[in-house]
Amino acid sequence: MYFSCKYAKSYVTQKEMEGLAAQVSAAHTLLHERKGQGNDYTGWLDLPEKIDVEAYARVKAAAARIAQQSEVLIVIGIGGSYLGAKAAVEMLTSPFFNYLPKEKRSAPQILFAGHNISGTYLDALMDFVGDKDFSVNVISKSGTTTEPAIAFRFFKLLLEKKYGKAEAKNRIYVTTDKSRGALFALAKEEGYERFVIPDDVGGRYSVLTPVGLLPIAAAGIDTDAMLSGARDAMGAYGIDSIEKNDCYAYAAARNILYRKGKTTEVLANYEGSLHYFAEWWKQLYGESEGKDGKGIFPAAVDFSTDLHSMGQYLQDGMRNLFETVLHVQNPPADVAVPAMVGNVDGLSFLEGKTVNHVNRQAFLGTLMAHTDGGVPCLLLEMEAQDAYNFGKAVYFFEKACGISGYLLGVNPFDQPGVEAYKKNMFALLGKPGYEAEGEKLLRRLGEI
Ligand code: PA5
Repeated sequence: MYFSCKYAKSYVTQKEMEGLAAQVSAAHTLLHERKGQGNDYTGWLDLPEKIDVEAYARVKAAAARIAQQSEVLIVIGIGGSYLGAKAAVEMLTSPFFNYLPKEKRSAPQILFAGHNISGTYLDALMDFVGDKDFSVNVISKSGTTTEPAIAFRFFKLLLEKKYGKAEAKNRIYVTTDKSRGALFALAKEEGYERFVIPDDVGGRYSVLTPVGLLPIAAAGIDTDAMLSGARDAMGAYGIDSIEKNDCYAYAAARNILYRKGKTTEVLANYEGSLHYFAEWWKQLYGESEGKDGKGIFPAAVDFSTDLHSMGQYLQDGMRNLFETVLHVQNPPADVAVPAMVGNVDGLSFLEGKTVNHVNRQAFLGTLMAHTDGGVPCLLLEMEAQDAYNFGKAVYFFEKACGISGYLLGVNPFDQPGVEAYKKNMFALLGKPGYEAEGEKLLRRLGEI
């Protein structure tokens, strides 16, 4: 991953970067010496080099078994327990992966559940699964999250109806805490194959644990290459230097912009298949930084698609934002613009030029237009859109996020704010113990 702030020169000066170097170095020390806020959750830092070999071998064996026994894998999880896998599948397989005929896919269809509470979605998914052979990977670190727990009830029942309890057991893979939570207890009681999420790795930092590895491997993606990218990133982005470490330079630049009132960061891509990578990034930064009344608001756009929807705002709207372009230098495929008799659309000058060439000019042109429009643009270049670079990018953004959180003075590894809606939801649902709160809420809502 290469970082440049040359398109944000007047907002992020060399002097300002140098001025922040000591704070970045202090954040590095806090993180590496495990002395900062949330230090109990920094296990992801050396995860690429401390992969549990036995568990990883079981992950690969389970992925192979799933491929052999099922046409569909239902991955159940929410937030950090699904976004990393979803990002990898979308970025590293064909955009039509789930629609391809079996022979062309060489892996089961990967479908997600438990990331919302929509009855319509669950009903349609169960209908889609129909009489196809399927397996389930249910993922929840706490083992008590409502959304995946509800979805799991349905698919557990469906499996048991279809195959009987004994065979259903062979098709359920549980990724959860090593000894706590309702999901752990259920998995133990039923004898499901279990994968452990390490205690010191929080949900949104868990892509390189079985949380991400199992569904990603089941999709036929090269997880060895992914881990090798993460390992290389661990070395490259472990250097305590703002000049030699692009990850730290990115963290510093966004902090400088934030201090100047650029409170929204828009992550822009030019490959639609990076859409879910940006969703993963949004969760990582939103949950890590948005607290104590502080934090950069993470937003994302897919270009050129969103140049036709958000382009106007980005060019001319309120100047409280900056753009970070995540650009793939060598996209995995390309096609040339074909000839058309009569040049009716006036585009014959593009004949023989590749679509990626056109996309690149859109990228460069937009960079200039947004710069001229007063949007500081940071640039992150990813060499290729493959498993190796995915692993590298995951580690890059996790590390930059940890450093950013410390620069901001927040704990980047907790998420106390996500509990508020849960409390209200349980109260409104009449969960035992929440009755009084439920009544108060109903009054405030004007429902009683
Ligand atoms: O990053 C986090 O910790 C959260 O987004 C969690 O991943 C999410 O809330 C799901 O939690 P769990 O894995 O406990 O079901």
